[in-house]
Amino acid sequence: MRASARRPATLSARLIGDVTLDVREDGDVAARIEGFSVRLGRLSAGASARAGALRAGLPLTSFASGRGVGKEIDVLVRALAKRGLIEYRLERGRKDQAVIEPQVPDYWPSLPTLRDTDTLVLSRFAYLRRRASEMVLESPRAGALFRIADARFAAVLALLATPRPIKWLRRQAAFPGVELLALLVDCRILFKVDARDKGLRPTEGDASLVMWDFHDLVFHARSTEGRHANPTGGVYPHADAVPPLPLVRPAWPGKRIDLRPALRADAPLSATAKLLRERHSVRDFDPARPITLTELSCFLDGTARIQSIVRMPPGPDDGGETAEYSMRPYPAAGASYELELYLAVDACDGLAHGFYHYDAGEHALVPIEVDARELDTLFQGAQLAMGVSAPPQVLITIAARFGRVSWKYSSLAYALILKDAGVLLQTLYLMATDMGLGGCAIGSTNIELFAKMTGIEFHVEGPIGQFALGRSAATAESGAMG
Ligand SMILES: Cc1cc2nc3c(=O)[nH]c(=O)nc-3n(C[C@H](O)[C@H](O)[C@H](O)COP(=O)(O)O)c2cc1C
Repeated sequence: MRASARRPATLSARLIGDVTLDVREDGDVAARIEGFSVRLGRLSAGASARAGALRAGLPLTSFASGRGVGKEIDVLVRALAKRGLIEYRLERGRKDQAVIEPQVPDYWPSLPTLRDTDTLVLSRFAYLRRRASEMVLESPRAGALFRIADARFAAVLALLATPRPIKWLRRQAAFPGVELLALLVDCRILFKVDARDKGLRPTEGDASLVMWDFHDLVFHARSTEGRHANPTGGVYPHADAVPPLPLVRPAWPGKRIDLRPALRADAPLSATAKLLRERHSVRDFDPARPITLTELSCFLDGTARIQSIVRMPPGPDDGGETAEYSMRPYPAAGASYELELYLAVDACDGLAHGFYHYDAGEHALVPIEVDARELDTLFQGAQLAMGVSAPPQVLITIAARFGRVSWKYSSLAYALILKDAGVLLQTLYLMATDMGLGGCAIGSTNIELFAKMTGIEFHVEGPIGQFALGRSAATAESGAMG
């Protein structure tokens, strides 16, 4: 063990790079970031003086007492943390070991007790990568990422590809101290195993996690909102560096065969071709004319209801299981039908405001009790994505039961699920158009919000797309080009 690893580590909270704290003479405190100001309350004179130290970092133990000035600082730091304005620095012997960047709003560092007899192993979802000029250790399961400040820690991670008792790790030159290991256990980047367990796929997490491939879980967590702190959506990240690709692909050099003369001028457009041409996105809905329960029932019946169930006898590769497949109005990869519809209802004639699951087998809506603020947040996210000021009458969340697909398919499970979502979105568009209703696909989803609303862990079932539905406002369409 290095001498430095015997010194106690200090974990401090500090403001992230471009945040400043304005504390007025009367104690009013606000965080300022990129020209925006967020008021955070009022501090006593003692707490105002202490708060200044958040720039360089305040040890968590210095305000953990829960009394007096410590209590005030604790409330302030937690308010800043909730808004993603705090990071944590782990230092030992005046040297940084790691800086912890929260990835979910609820992250608060915790150090579970580790004993020398505990055996640890690296999660198969953890990865170390270069980000700009830093090395970061991440995992889609973690509530935070770790900026690694001491390169020797990479050697420890390599050792932890095999389960290692802590007492064995202590004897290694690169032993980082137990605090960093505890923080990583808390983030599920490391996990404890029994002494003889190899820490392989079946040991980590539950049966649903076993079915996730590494790249799929990273893709899911990073391409949705809620479990990472990176910019998301139409922020034009490369506009300064690269011109946009042309709308139409430059033609190949071969001799062109004009298809226009092959169109039959006398043949009328088919009903499908007409429907496809009529289809367009509707983001503004008529508050005076909500969709009715009858329309909603017909809409779901026509798009998503199970039409029949087929039971296949066990085959040579399916572990002796009788596989069940359903027939539905839209196609799905492997007939897995992993997609579920959840309806957030703002205004529907005959149906109460609330959150529902669509039971596609029974053709029924089942209410789910959710926190009203979380339901509001769901609607607000949809409004933001569509660039409108009012919620849709009905917001359909398309969620996937990932294991329905990954039980069978390796490598391409998540890609298939996203393709299925695209197919379903177009099905919803066409039915809405056919029924004289309006709709709009929404590409962004917040997987952490859905997990909170439903109590289902993000890797078991989670949202991958949304569809706003309702009766179109008479006024001209307005809104963002998502
Ligand atoms: C996968 C997908 C995601 C979309 N996401 C959004 C979105 O987040 N916000 C939005 O306003 N429109 C969104 N749209 C709608 C597109 O902006 C729209 O389809 C496109 O501008 C073409 O217009 P049209 O649908 O009226 O033909 C999405 C469409 C698709 C297919």
